[in-house]
Amino acid sequence: MSAQILDGKAVSEAMRAEIAGAVQELRSEDVTPGLGVLLVGDDPASRSYVTAKEKACEKAGIFSLEIRLPATAARGEILDVVQSFNKDTRIDGILVQLPLPDADMEDDVLFAVNPEKDVDGFHPVNVGRMMLGMPTYLPCTPHGILHLLKRSGIKVAGAHVVIVGRSNIVGRPLANMLSQKSELGNATVTMCHTRTRDLASHTLRADILVAAAGRPRTITAEMVREGAVVVDVGVNRVEDAAAKNGYRLVGDVDFEAVKEKAAAITPVPGGVGPMTITMLLYNTVEFARRQNG
Ligand code: GUN
Repeated sequence: MSAQILDGKAVSEAMRAEIAGAVQELRSEDVTPGLGVLLVGDDPASRSYVTAKEKACEKAGIFSLEIRLPATAARGEILDVVQSFNKDTRIDGILVQLPLPDADMEDDVLFAVNPEKDVDGFHPVNVGRMMLGMPTYLPCTPHGILHLLKRSGIKVAGAHVVIVGRSNIVGRPLANMLSQKSELGNATVTMCHTRTRDLASHTLRADILVAAAGRPRTITAEMVREGAVVVDVGVNRVEDAAAKNGYRLVGDVDFEAVKEKAAAITPVPGGVGPMTITMLLYNTVEFARRQNG
């Protein structure tokens, strides 16, 4: 059996067309949704995410303002940019690309973002609202995964979802959202991490397995139950002399082997990645709507 490919690119295209329609409507009322992006340092992966986000904004008719600071930027300089975005009426949503070169600054910087403009849903107030099931803006990658599953006809309610990875950006918010009594939730969730004993004993029990560990080949075919749905959140650069840039992107899952066992699987690239950007556009437009009544 070869798995159904969960095509994040196609689902994203459909959603982005809907979002572009909503932007046109807002623009006809003289409201242009705007996104402020701050990139600190020159991590190649972060640079390419930010470029992809900008291109997607432009295509959807969303105004975007990007500010880049060197890796050596002081805490005060970073906070000044965040404050300028907070005050700028052209900007409805703010995104600070993570990780910051100095991880110790992340809490302060995320806390400085106006929660009403926090398109990532990373501000503690919004994390708390999400945790309590209150209306809020949901972090883009987990929210994108839930929409990809829904639009691909995969039922989450009642399923046992095993998540490998406990990051604040993916694993933990995803576990929270899936376990809620809500339209996109109602799953039974197991969360695994680097200290989990006998990882395979958990992954083999998954109806839906989400790999978000940030390490190639974390999930091999022996770790996947026949007929499971596999969602690969990993984006890892591995050297490849035959590739144009000298590297290629692979996920956390051994795709070629696992696709012969799974019922459905997301590719890398073209699976979860485009959905993250789509949900960012979605949140930005929702903010603009809300801020303009
Ligand atoms: N780095 C990796 N994923 C994300 C994301 O969704 N938002 C931000 N701000 N940084 C990230």
